[in-house]
Amino acid sequence: MLEIIILSLHFFVCFLISVVIWCGSKVLWGSLHDRETPLLFDMDLCSSSKGAVEMEPDAPVYVGKEDDIKKSQRITTKVNDREVVIFYHEGKFYAMDACCYHAGGPLRLGEIEDINGQPCIICPWHKYKITLETGEGLYQAINPMEPSPTPRWRSKGVKQRIHKVTIDNGNVYVSPPDLSVSLASDYYADKCKNNGDFTMEK
Ligand code: FES
Repeated sequence: MLEIIILSLHFFVCFLISVVIWCGSKVLWGSLHDRETPLLFDMDLCSSSKGAVEMEPDAPVYVGKEDDIKKSQRITTKVNDREVVIFYHEGKFYAMDACCYHAGGPLRLGEIEDINGQPCIICPWHKYKITLETGEGLYQAINPMEPSPTPRWRSKGVKQRIHKVTIDNGNVYVSPPDLSVSLASDYYADKCKNNGDFTMEK
């Protein structure tokens, strides 16, 4: 008889515990949905995930205000420790490695010219022409087989590393480069990193 009473008490206590757990979970769930302000642990989660985005190595890097760059037309800055020049030319932003692929000349001091329908930066040191859009080196060549050979613009291929520019809410961002393919300007990008302006003799 005593065993039956103990067993009944045991079942009753288990039943009470289940009811308490069920009610508790409902109250907690309701409070999570009804609240207007985030709980402390939510804020921690948000701030830590935001921090992770900022530290993400491929995340675009803020380089300045859209209006300021439009006014100055060009700035140089560092993007993930790489010297980059940003141009604003005829309504478009362009970004490329700041040191010329040929011998490290300071492209921020170059003139922009339209060559063959493409805006190009002319390196101030040896006048190499680099397209702002693609980073191709342009040169003129003639075909001696033509009856009257005429110089025409040709491409050496992409030589200068171009960086993607995005505008968001009046802020300008430059994306870090994909370095899986190496380009000629990478060599001088390393030297610029250490020296700021690369000061090799012209
Ligand atoms: S360093 Fe730019 S053309 Fe020579």
